[in-house]
Amino acid sequence: MFALRFAAFVAPFIALPAFAASADEWRSRAIYQLVTDRFATSNGSSPPCDTSQRVYCGGTWQGVISKLDYIQNMGFDAVWISPVVANVEGNTGEGEAFHGYWTRDINSLNEHFGSTDDLNALASALHTRGMFLMLDVVVNHMAATSNPPDYSSFSPFNTQADFHLECFIDDYNNQTDVEQCWLGDTTVPLADLNTENDDIVNTMYTWIKGLVGNYSADGVRIDTVKHIRKDFWPQFAQNAGVFTIGEVLDGNTSYVGPYTQVLDSVLDYPTFYPLTSAFVSPTGNLSSLVELVQQAQSTYKDGEFMTGSFLENHDNPRFQSMTQDQALVKNAMTWPFIQDGVPILYYGQEQGYTGGADPANREALWLSGYVEDKPLVNHVKTLNAVRKSAIASNGSFLTTPLKFLATTSSTLAVSKPPLLALLSNGGNASSPSWSVPNAGYAANEPLVDVVSCASVTADSNGGVSASSQGGVPMVLMPASALNKSGSVCSNLATGSGSGSGSGNAASAVGASGGIILAAALAAAASYMLL
Ligand SMILES: *[C@@H]1O[C@H](CO)[C@@H](O)[C@H](O)[C@H]1NC(C)=O
Ligand SMILES: *[C@@H]1O[C@H](CO)[C@@H](O)[C@H](O)[C@H]1NC(C)=O
Ligand SMILES: *[C@@H]1O[C@H](CO)[C@@H](O)[C@H](O)[C@H]1NC(C)=O
Ligand SMILES: *[C@@H]1O[C@H](CO)[C@@H](O)[C@H](O)[C@H]1NC(C)=O
Ligand SMILES: *[C@@H]1O[C@H](CO)[C@@H](O)[C@H](O)[C@H]1NC(C)=O
Ligand SMILES: *[C@@H]1O[C@H](CO)[C@@H](O)[C@H](O)[C@H]1NC(C)=O
Ligand SMILES: *[C@@H]1O[C@H](CO)[C@@H](O)[C@H](O)[C@H]1NC(C)=O
Ligand SMILES: *[C@@H]1O[C@H](CO)[C@@H](O)[C@H](O)[C@H]1NC(C)=O
Repeated sequence: MFALRFAAFVAPFIALPAFAASADEWRSRAIYQLVTDRFATSNGSSPPCDTSQRVYCGGTWQGVISKLDYIQNMGFDAVWISPVVANVEGNTGEGEAFHGYWTRDINSLNEHFGSTDDLNALASALHTRGMFLMLDVVVNHMAATSNPPDYSSFSPFNTQADFHLECFIDDYNNQTDVEQCWLGDTTVPLADLNTENDDIVNTMYTWIKGLVGNYSADGVRIDTVKHIRKDFWPQFAQNAGVFTIGEVLDGNTSYVGPYTQVLDSVLDYPTFYPLTSAFVSPTGNLSSLVELVQQAQSTYKDGEFMTGSFLENHDNPRFQSMTQDQALVKNAMTWPFIQDGVPILYYGQEQGYTGGADPANREALWLSGYVEDKPLVNHVKTLNAVRKSAIASNGSFLTTPLKFLATTSSTLAVSKPPLLALLSNGGNASSPSWSVPNAGYAANEPLVDVVSCASVTADSNGGVSASSQGGVPMVLMPASALNKSGSVCSNLATGSGSGSGSGNAASAVGASGGIILAAALAAAASYMLL
């Protein structure tokens, strides 16, 4: 009843052209990941939200629209929202489907988050700002509320024959088991679509094309990718027609690497694990992070470029549930912004949220008041701005792999010219120092640590010796590559930008604005051919 009414409502509207952004157009982007139900309400109200109850708290797509300034002010130019399609209703015994990952009907929207018009309004509000929309999709399964499932409750896959025979995955070393048995449990079985069947496969290919087109998406994040055979994915990605980034939940680069051959990119889970353990305490192992990153650089199709680099997400305990030492937090948070891939920040990290494992890590952001003048919000702002400056001032920044120049048991020096990040896991009681003989700067070049806005001068060989107080990271840029009228340490910046090859965040936005316009025109043209 509900489904039919809603489907009728969805049908007629004119889609705005998406930017239809390619992988390459995402290379310079920075993504803000949010859980729609927990990010912002339509009217700005702040209802209570007890994460342990696992129920809808009231966030909507209109709410997201109302807080785009907050996201954009931090320097993000893409937003990843949680899945949009209709989910199972009511309390399942494992809570409600507020997260969006329990699909019931792939062709209707989740009314809790708003209407078709609201989702289109979000896409257009983002595009007006030159920002990208990333949709999150689940292809592997549909969610049931009984065991065995009531197959007739699913749409359009409404018979048992549309699914693999029920068996819960029990052997993760058996790839057939991983692909054909089921996720979930007897309370919420995740009925595994028979993606060996051509009809199912073709329905999914047609569906993703429709979803991306109908809602003007610029990119797609794909859930549970390793649970479908690899050769399903290339044509899925082709039908999506935009950047695809897959969740392959595994820490092994050799296991994850082949998925970079069938999709544009993956979420960089292999780096996530050693990143977390490297910085979570002064005894963390920095060498294992270095080793892993070097493996990923040589194993993935495009090295680490365009992989989604993250410190937190909705499936893992927040970093600050493990340590609240702000020096460690700032070092770990710096990583996604100074490495080769696309940085992703999970909403709430900037507000210092400390939620542990799911469901505690899905707090309502409205309870923070969206305060912008806070240390971690400012840290993120600086990191986004300095990355855009580096992109603007060096045409090779986005295509040259990072190098580790000097690693000790408690410090790292990560070089991506003209950026040099000096990280440490010594913690807030330490005063780390770095000695980087071959940093690649000009002799005696004036540099700026953008984290503290302090001057540092390269030595006569272009090397760097520097130290920080209280264990905070340092992120160095030549003063000449920072815009003296810009937002980053303008009192120390000497770059004017105009034509000299140096620049700042503003010029980077301007440059990609050109790409956006061209992409929008191309998308409009191809849309008219359909
Ligand atoms: C905001 O919306 C909620 C949910 O629809 C409603 O309960 C509340 O009264 C509204 N608050 C205001 C101030 O309009
Ligand atoms: C792997 O899993 C499949 C599906 O559960 C099963 O049929 C097969 O026997 C398993 N293979 C091995 C070697 O255990
Ligand atoms: C896209 O819109 C068309 C036309 O309204 C509709 O038939 C189709 O089901 C929609 N697809 C999705 C995934 O919403
Ligand atoms: C990593 O994955 C590869 C490929 O699947 C596998 O051969 C290897 O045993 C895995 N290594 C570990 C340590 O699990
Ligand atoms: C740190 O990790 C590296 C690389 O994986 C390993 O060789 C080394 O033994 C580890 N160090 C400690 C103290 O565990
Ligand atoms: C360092 O961090 C710890 C853990 O959060 C905290 O208890 C301590 O007060 C901090 N010390 C300083 C000097 O900030
Ligand atoms: C630009 O990047 C390339 C590749 O890392 C590097 O060789 C070159 O020195 C950089 N130029 C500047 C001005 O930083
Ligand atoms: C430098 O910053 C000013 C003020 O934000 C801006 O107008 C100018 O375009 C910037 N120059 C460059 C090259 O980014």
